[in-house]
Amino acid sequence: MQIKHVGVVGCGLMGSGIAQVCAQAGYPVTVREISQDLLDKGLQSIHKFLSTGVERKKLTEEQKNQILGRIKGTTRLEDLGNCDLIIEAVVEDIHIKKEVFGALDKICPPETILASNTSSLTIIEMAAATGRPDRVVGLHFFNPAPLMKLVEVVRTIATNDEVFQTAFEFVKSLGKEPVAAKDNSGFIVNFLLIPYLLGAIRALENGLASKEDIDKAMKLGCGYPMGPFELLDFVGLDTTYKVANILFEEYRDRLYAPPPLLKKMVLAGYLGRKSGKGFYDYTK
Ligand code: 3HC
Repeated sequence: MQIKHVGVVGCGLMGSGIAQVCAQAGYPVTVREISQDLLDKGLQSIHKFLSTGVERKKLTEEQKNQILGRIKGTTRLEDLGNCDLIIEAVVEDIHIKKEVFGALDKICPPETILASNTSSLTIIEMAAATGRPDRVVGLHFFNPAPLMKLVEVVRTIATNDEVFQTAFEFVKSLGKEPVAAKDNSGFIVNFLLIPYLLGAIRALENGLASKEDIDKAMKLGCGYPMGPFELLDFVGLDTTYKVANILFEEYRDRLYAPPPLLKKMVLAGYLGRKSGKGFYDYTK
């Protein structure tokens, strides 16, 4: 099956990045947000990213305009009816995701492949909300989507082999590196990353070292681009808390139990870069 037209549901941080990546690879993309205001914000962030790319001489002004010309924004889910592949990137809430998958199943022709960018929920739960569980996969991109090379391609126990291969080849056509993963909560990366991030918070709670020294140790000792606290602020403490809770619910393993400090910071509104304060202060 050939993918000619891509749909993206959600134009937040991940949805906008995914729409941009697909348009950069030459696909016409229709991206849907629930309100015009949120859609404008998402499209604006794509515009800004590409403009920075022009300033950094990564692409020309003409290429930027061509990419933007391939992206059509909408607030109507029905406008995704002509897409061959639709990637869902709405909030990490199974009820909302199931609603989206159920609605897409009614709107799209039977051959359309439906994918989720979930980072922690199981794909089969969304597949079960459709009449085409064999045509549902996970396509998990990483933040920032336009820069991160990896995409986890997730096959459920119901995914058709040809659909999986099509999704895998599609990821390659985006210039990304696909890896195949089973439909277990967290797939490969978050299965390993979340215990690491939570472990760093526990180490801080226990007074092992300062957050600055823990970050420095992991960057210089392991060659990571960001230390765990820089990464927590980057990903968002609320997102990490939500993902950890979902994984804990699934595995019932204390490795995934959110430490009290994480919960307190989320309650206080210290969400990381997006709120101006997390483990570090971004207001200055
Ligand atoms: N357009 C084009 N290229 C751009 C760009 C733009 N707007 N902005 C940056 N770039 C390019 C730069 O030119 C540079 O390219 P070069 O190496 O060829 O010169 C490269 O991207 C890096 O940019 P910067 O130098 O500005 O930034 P950093 O070197 O500080 O890297 C980062 C930023 C890529 C975010 C890096 O810090 C990083 O990899 N951090 C870790 C991110 C990470 O782990 N993400 C995963 C989070 S977990 C997740 O998403 C899972 C979820 O489910 C929770």
